[in-house]
Amino acid sequence: MVKAVVLGAAGGIGQPLALLLKANPLVTELGLFDIVNTPGVAADLSHISTPAKVEGYLPPDEGLKKTLTGADVVVIPAGVPRKPGMTRDDLFKINAGIVKDLATGIATTAPKAFVLVISNPVNSTVPIVAEVFKKFGVYDPKRLFGVTTLDVVRASTFVAEILGDLSLSKDVVVPVVGGHSGVTIVPLLSQSSHPLPSGLAKESYDALVNRIQFGGDEVVKAKNGGGSATLSMAYAGAEFAAKVIRAVKGEKGIVAPSYVSVEADASGSAALTKELGEELAYFSSNVELGTEGVVKIIPLGKVSEAEQALIKAAIPELKKNITTGVNFVAEAY
Ligand code: NAI
Repeated sequence: MVKAVVLGAAGGIGQPLALLLKANPLVTELGLFDIVNTPGVAADLSHISTPAKVEGYLPPDEGLKKTLTGADVVVIPAGVPRKPGMTRDDLFKINAGIVKDLATGIATTAPKAFVLVISNPVNSTVPIVAEVFKKFGVYDPKRLFGVTTLDVVRASTFVAEILGDLSLSKDVVVPVVGGHSGVTIVPLLSQSSHPLPSGLAKESYDALVNRIQFGGDEVVKAKNGGGSATLSMAYAGAEFAAKVIRAVKGEKGIVAPSYVSVEADASGSAALTKELGEELAYFSSNVELGTEGVVKIIPLGKVSEAEQALIKAAIPELKKNITTGVNFVAEAY
């Protein structure tokens, strides 16, 4: 029995994500919460012939509490998306408050749930959830994840495009490490399961890195004020949630990229610190999942000189983002 919950379920990401979770045969209960429209979304999804029983709640009458009761996996895409010209950090003021309130609900109603944060800026919202959980004495770093899967999905697609065969994209695996915004997104293309064409010009390599880092901007621009990535994000979020659910159900050896606290695995984080030459409180890298969440943070391994430079550029920004999240909660209490 697995109860999955989506907070922000009526939104651009929330609706298709809820659809994909309803289509996941391992999900037996699906709880949907938003400040608008969840009863309609839930009624609609409930007619789909898959096992999950769907319920949708709104804020009055303890809707958040009812949605979260018994939750195993909670995915959070609640908040506002970017408009053209905005960075993910511009969203901070609004989304930080929303995420803090939802984290408070999880801490009091479903403190053992696995929490998957999509709301941007992920580099800061994950520390916000952690700090709220600490206030309530329920923090387990192994159970908190920032969803960076879209960066990995984009990297697979863009590399397959360069290789001239989109049918490869489902098999191309590129580790993407660091964080989830702009320069903090570091694709380790030298470790791609499908090597880039030999002799790829430096300009083409740089353009590929830039496209993976700023791929979200392409969508924001194309939607022209209508928001940011929703469908590709829902796909990526559902992929990641499915891996967490399979791991929780006992499947071994599942590895997924995610932005996690280095406290989730002491030996993995020690190796990571050695590689980075600095200690960071949160970092995204491949993570092995198990029934209790993070089993292992997988170190970066061999990186190229160009990737080393990207990592170096990511660190100061990432540190700043983490501090912003931590301070927000400290000032709120
Ligand atoms: P949207 O505006 O379409 O949907 C957001 C939903 O959140 C709305 O239905 C809204 O009513 C709901 N909401 C607002 N306050 C809430 C609260 N207190 N409790 C529950 N629900 C609440 O936005 P969209 O496009 O779905 O994006 C959502 C978030 O996901 C944004 O922060 C966006 O930046 C982020 N995002 C993250 C990505 C990632 O890779 N991690 C990729 C793309 C977007």
